[in-house]
Amino acid sequence: MPFKISPKTLEATRDTAKANAQEGRGMDLLGRLRRGDSLSDEELATIFLSPDIKTSELIDLAKEMREPHALEIETFCPLYISNECDAECLMCGMRNFNNSLIRQTADEETIKDQLKILGHRGIRGVALLTGEYRHGKMRKEMLNRTSIATRDALTSQFEHILINVGSIEEEEYEPLLHGVPRLDDGSVSPHITMCTFQESYHPDVYKKFMGTTTENPRSNFTRRLQNFDRAAAAGMRSANPGVLVGLNPDLTYEMLALLAHCHHLQNLGMTTYVSLPRLRKASGAPHSAGVGDDEFFRLIAVLSAGIPKAKLVISTRESPKIQQKLLPIIDVLTPGSPGVAPYTLENARFEVEASQFEVADHRPFEEILGECLRAGAKIDGYEPTTSTDLNG
Ligand code: SAH
Ligand code: TRP
Ligand code: SF4
Repeated sequence: MPFKISPKTLEATRDTAKANAQEGRGMDLLGRLRRGDSLSDEELATIFLSPDIKTSELIDLAKEMREPHALEIETFCPLYISNECDAECLMCGMRNFNNSLIRQTADEETIKDQLKILGHRGIRGVALLTGEYRHGKMRKEMLNRTSIATRDALTSQFEHILINVGSIEEEEYEPLLHGVPRLDDGSVSPHITMCTFQESYHPDVYKKFMGTTTENPRSNFTRRLQNFDRAAAAGMRSANPGVLVGLNPDLTYEMLALLAHCHHLQNLGMTTYVSLPRLRKASGAPHSAGVGDDEFFRLIAVLSAGIPKAKLVISTRESPKIQQKLLPIIDVLTPGSPGVAPYTLENARFEVEASQFEVADHRPFEEILGECLRAGAKIDGYEPTTSTDLNG
């Protein structure tokens, strides 16, 4: 059965959790979590909402529970193939009709060069990104370029490839994964992850930001929600859902839906990554205040302690200070630029006029990852090329 959600049921669970939190039931649940019990989603939401539980306490608990594999993280860099897009997501600089964005699309040669640069700089994980396109020539072309880039990355030294190109139809998976090695049971053997962040699991919030017209390839909530079911059917074994934190002020609702999605994916046997991008300023987009640090930390700490099998992903949308604060309780830190083919041998282009949004941290990824190494982290997907990266 493909994944479905019932907003009414999730809202009822949220309301029960809220009432229980107000009655002071959170502390007891926190104790159970600390002792290794696995809690229900409603119980995790109760902890999240408990006014008597401090955020620092939640972070400490998450740290404590990760102690046996403390600071073992993974990294990958994004590589945007194009910033053209037929969708109309209000918060995004790449959206169709945003006349202030400088449009760029990388050709095959450029993508190859970019992979070479990333490889040369020690990066072994790459996320390939594009917009989302209406059925037709452009859509075929972008999926084809992604497919070629996937094969290029596999034959160079990349160990993890993430595909973040919107939702894919059942019949498009075969050409997308063309030439990728398979196991006997048909499953994809290299580590390739399908990424489609729902942004909001509430259909009304989704409609407000992602639009409703049928010409808009992004407007179908259910088609996006069930993309991982199609990916699994096509042999993919790794999924990356996410919530764009700041769209729906009701974070408890989003947390409950995300947890339900993770359980569904884990039941399918998929490795599950969870992205929690926070809204950033984007070209030509009205900027909303978003979610504050404290609430954001609580969300991450509860997920980190409550669903340890999911791998939490944080990007350089967050400042260096926040990255360091979250490092002990997350699984993936992904630095890079959301500009098209932005990498140079030294750093990257970050100009917001040609990017999906503005990132907070413009340091070269050697510096960002070097800071993590100095903090004692082990980083999968990164092989620093010179030891001088570690100095300073
Ligand atoms: N076109 C693809 C690629 C997404 S890019 C798709 O939409 O699926 C990856 C993610 O960036 C999006 O899923 C969204 O969560 C995030 N994003 C979009 N606009 C953003 C903004 N203004 N600030 C921060 N993140 C944003
Ligand atoms: N938006 C994508 C994601 O969150 C790509 C990405 C990964 C990214 N790391 C980033 C975008 C760092 C900007 C900066 O997975
Ligand atoms: Fe296009 Fe993705 Fe941006 Fe939506 S979020 S406008 S689909 S690039």
